[in-house]
Amino acid sequence: MIALGSSTHPAWFATSGQHLGALLSDHLHCERKAAENAMSLVRRYPNQAAFVEALTRLAHEETSHLVQVAAIMNERGLVVRSDGPNRYARALLAQMRGNEPERRVDALLCAALIEARSHERLSLLARGFQQRGDQQLADFYAALGDAEERHAEIYVSLAKDAAPTAAVDDRLAELVEREAEILAALPHGPRIH
Ligand SMILES: [Fe+2]
Ligand SMILES: [Fe+2]
Repeated sequence: MIALGSSTHPAWFATSGQHLGALLSDHLHCERKAAENAMSLVRRYPNQAAFVEALTRLAHEETSHLVQVAAIMNERGLVVRSDGPNRYARALLAQMRGNEPERRVDALLCAALIEARSHERLSLLARGFQQRGDQQLADFYAALGDAEERHAEIYVSLAKDAAPTAAVDDRLAELVEREAEILAALPHGPRIH
């Protein structure tokens, strides 16, 4: 499991959980981008069947999350909004080194960190909705939070297939610090990241 460099502010759920339409809309787009990112890694690095299988399975799971968010929004009469720019992901991906195999390692580790942060945030949503008595969303976010934690581990293990373990661990430690700095510089809002 990845140890993140920071914990989300305790007031995050109080703010985010009040804007259900905006929050679920952002979450829906996060699942879409998670699936698209996994597919884009398959396009960029198609050479190993095990890598392709792992990432297509992961993308398949993300699209199933996307279906579930869309169904909940539909059931609750919530409108899916357009996706805005994601300063968090953009700043994190700007950390990627340019040459291979470093670029591939960084792409996988950035994806791992986004998944690990999703795990943290979705777990907070599970707890918050539980306290609020919204059992449907509490159960939904508990299940999804667990899946995102597993995805983070898959991305780290794929990075370790591409480069020596010690080099990946060192780079992960650096990116963990960057991720916490990037998140700290962004305002709170009804967003997953
Ligand atoms: Fe997901
Ligand atoms: Fe995920």
